[in-house]
Amino acid sequence: MGIIEKAREIAGIIERQDEICIVTHCDADGITGAAIAKKALDEIGIKCEIKVVRYLSRKILQGVDKFTWFIDLGNGNIAGINGNAVITDHHFSNEYHERALNPFYYGIDGETEISAAGLAYLVASNFSDFDATLAIMGAIGDLQDLRFGRLTGINRQLLKNSKVEIKKDIRIYGRKKPLYKMIAYATDPVIPGIFKRVRNAIGFLSRIDIDYKKSWNECSREEKKKILSELIKILVTKGFSYDYITRIFGEVYELDGEDIREYATLLNSIGKYGYGMEAIKMCIEEKFDGKNLLKKHRSKICNYIEYAKKKLDEYKGIYYFHGGNYIMDTVVGTVAGMILREEDFSTPLLAFAENEEGIKVSARAPYNLVEKGLNLSIAMKNAAEMLGGNGGGHKAAAGAIIPKGMEERFLQIFDAEIRNQLTL
Ligand code: C5P
Repeated sequence: MGIIEKAREIAGIIERQDEICIVTHCDADGITGAAIAKKALDEIGIKCEIKVVRYLSRKILQGVDKFTWFIDLGNGNIAGINGNAVITDHHFSNEYHERALNPFYYGIDGETEISAAGLAYLVASNFSDFDATLAIMGAIGDLQDLRFGRLTGINRQLLKNSKVEIKKDIRIYGRKKPLYKMIAYATDPVIPGIFKRVRNAIGFLSRIDIDYKKSWNECSREEKKKILSELIKILVTKGFSYDYITRIFGEVYELDGEDIREYATLLNSIGKYGYGMEAIKMCIEEKFDGKNLLKKHRSKICNYIEYAKKKLDEYKGIYYFHGGNYIMDTVVGTVAGMILREEDFSTPLLAFAENEEGIKVSARAPYNLVEKGLNLSIAMKNAAEMLGGNGGGHKAAAGAIIPKGMEERFLQIFDAEIRNQLTL
């Protein structure tokens, strides 16, 4: 049976229910996935309630008494999920569950080829033929285009079925922002010497005779060519690889003339600050307006980064910081990812934060380590389970929950796991 047939089988199970509880993750992928599921259930007249959660704790699992549709979570908790449920989760797991639509069972990479929203869409498209725009938003929110600089696999087919336009353009985020800001805060790729140095960015643009206040979209073709070739020159002289440099130009995705990353970022921040239901409503109504919230989110993240950098420490070459109860557990991973890119770490970065269940741990690693065999999802799961917690995620980005006071022990076990994976 292929993934499409399995999606149909799961749709059949859903269709037989009178009432469904959707349990979804609070990030953009979970939010869009739940919106797709809700739209589909409404269409076939099945009553549903939605729970947007930060992670799947034992408490949440024990509290669900109705038939449940788990979205963007569940693969890490297969043993705790009974038969009265279906799972559409793209996180890696090789544990079998009869009612899980797990892309990895079909040789499909859940990190790049399909997201949880995409999986929910495969199921939902059996009930109605709405377009796959939200599924693409989920995939982009999950950074599924990051590895290859474009969407691949099933995501590519979903793209064709969506309102999202594919364009060839500079891939740096912020094409509507003033140029100096766009290049100073570019992270994929980072422009050395300019990164976070607004003055250097202004100097660079003035030297090549470009009005730095203009946005990329306002530039002429000639100006765009000039900026691109000068940026590439910087990267070449700094010795970056061809693969790294070519990421600067390629596919970008737009919805109604807006970079789809804007929408995904908005949903992520709304969901992670505890307003998941509002974010789902936005998706269903296709009304994405949350500029004020986004502004607040950005300023909070800046404060968190500043705090985390002061707390950075090292354990046998692995960097980590403890956000205590200052950094919100839902965004501590985002903070770790940003610091990893900013500081260009060549080792994994671990981040801790307190929450009501214990300690949230987030791990992020540079992709070249993944190519050498690193799998943070397995390392986090193993290390957390040894301490009575749980964990999972992706090869380059994973998370866990462990009991309070176990941070040091976690570092030791995690370090051993990483050494084992990379045979150091
Ligand atoms: O929370 P954070 O951003 O660090 O999560 C990174 C990845 O790890 C996400 O895909 C999340 O679903 C996963 N994760 C997990 N189990 C946890 C915490 C996070 O599978 N306990």
